[in-house]
Amino acid sequence: MQSDDFSNPGMLWVARGEKLWMTPAGGSGKSCATCHTEASQGMKGVATRYPAMDPGSARLVNIEGRINLCRARHQQVEAFQYESEELLALTAYVAHQSRGMPVKIEIDAQNRRHFDRGRDLYNRRIGQMNLSCAQCHDQNWGKKLLTDTISQGHGNAYPIYRLEWQNAGSLHRRFRNCLYGVRAELLPAGSAEFLDLELFLAWRARGLPLETPGVRR
Ligand code: HEC
Ligand code: HEC
Repeated sequence: MQSDDFSNPGMLWVARGEKLWMTPAGGSGKSCATCHTEASQGMKGVATRYPAMDPGSARLVNIEGRINLCRARHQQVEAFQYESEELLALTAYVAHQSRGMPVKIEIDAQNRRHFDRGRDLYNRRIGQMNLSCAQCHDQNWGKKLLTDTISQGHGNAYPIYRLEWQNAGSLHRRFRNCLYGVRAELLPAGSAEFLDLELFLAWRARGLPLETPGVRR
């Protein structure tokens, strides 16, 4: 389903993203395309190096956060809500421009602190079940958990369309599902902890091709 663009429901979000890309926003009258022109050129390869540090604020941002910075800074309109249809669509559209290209994350003096925190969280036992991400996704991948086969837990296909959600969803929504699974406190999508985790996962997935939009059960 994922590899056939005609049956991949995630392609609907990519198409919606393309429309939004060309729609002028608010008082600025500027669309994403006004500044970035054709996404197939300007956005090609961009998603392979995110999450990345935003030089303007020295904050770690993912593609969602980057889009919202452009909304605020360059279009003078409100940020999209995390997990909103619009943000999922634009994120899918931007990431799709890198489909097939390898994840390319480098850890340096600027992002090291975030990377270390993300790695710590990944390896820390959490929740009432007292399990770490690593215990499932590094030590038990390939095994069954109820009806699911545990994967290596990579984020290179997100945003995805998930049949169980009957909807598209972000990587952070998937993180929340895993936290719920181990009965840990649910962090909000877009939170600093999730961004750190996303950076660690992207580093761990370096070399894997981007697959956006993925399709999952
Ligand atoms: C007025 C011009 C302008 C508009 C409109 C604009 N951007 Fe940007 N965008 C920029 C600039 C300039 C940067 C470089 C970072 C910065 O200075 O904020 C950027 C950076 C980006 C990046 C990161 C690129 C990279 O190589 O890391 C993405 C992704 C992006 N914009 C997406 C969007 C999307 C999606 C929209 C529409 C919702 C949009 N931008 C609207 C000017 C704009
Ligand atoms: C009890 C085992 C378990 C734990 C602990 C767990 N997960 Fe998962 N995770 C799953 C299962 C089951 C799935 C759905 C099947 C799959 O894709 O692996 C999943 C899916 C994922 C996916 C999506 C993979 C894809 O290709 O769509 C990511 C990313 C992920 N987990 C990350 C994490 C992170 C980060 C943590 C720690 C906060 C975590 N998981 C903790 C079991 C677990």
